[in-house]
Amino acid sequence: MARGFFITFEGGEGAGKSTQIERLARKMRAKKYDVVVTREPGGSPGAEAVRHVLLSGAAEPFGPKMEALLFAAARSDHVEQVIRPAVDRGSIVLCDRFLDSSRVYQGVTGGVDPVFMTTLEQVAINGMMPDMTLIFDIDPVEGLRRATLRRGAHADADRFEKENLAIHQARREAFLAIAAAEPRRCIVVDASADPNTVENVVTAAVFAGLEAITAQTNRRATPA
Ligand code: TYD
Repeated sequence: MARGFFITFEGGEGAGKSTQIERLARKMRAKKYDVVVTREPGGSPGAEAVRHVLLSGAAEPFGPKMEALLFAAARSDHVEQVIRPAVDRGSIVLCDRFLDSSRVYQGVTGGVDPVFMTTLEQVAINGMMPDMTLIFDIDPVEGLRRATLRRGAHADADRFEKENLAIHQARREAFLAIAAAEPRRCIVVDASADPNTVENVVTAAVFAGLEAITAQTNRRATPA
């Protein structure tokens, strides 16, 4: 494959993205694809340094605009240091959260001005739009239950997980609205199903997407 493929995984808390990314990566590597698994906030040394500031809540007192800028700073570094080089050398990049999380968490539920958010997004991604985005959809009551189980009831929820149920509901709606607005890029996955069922849906969607892009590339390479 000349150019790689960039896939992002989005959704609310406890939707099972990380488990599914691991399973997909294993399957793709077995088929000899070169796979890079990464996440946001973080994924590069610079972005990982910013991750702690965001998830600990250290930036929370300075407001959602400040947080949006920090997520964007982390994203820009991650894109230029990790994602773009990997896609350019033909790898498949699987990224746990990306720009849609900023649109939803900082833009919609954080209330940061949409024009400002769009500008910030463009600066942060610098053209690196995902080829495909899987939106893991789950009722937040179930998602938060799973997230609590995963981290253990005695550990503290992070800055964003600890917010109230109405905010998590609003985020779910916002992710679904993105999927409805961008149906060519986004696929909604019912994350309430059992992990094997979700895995089958994810695998089918990703391999179909890969075939489509390979066919497109071949058509371009051999004009009729
Ligand atoms: P993390 O524990 O890494 O991920 P997850 O919830 O996917 O298991 O937490 C990342 C948190 O940061 C999550 O609550 C969503 C939030 N977030 C934003 O608010 N904006 C962003 O742009 C990104 C990438 C994440």
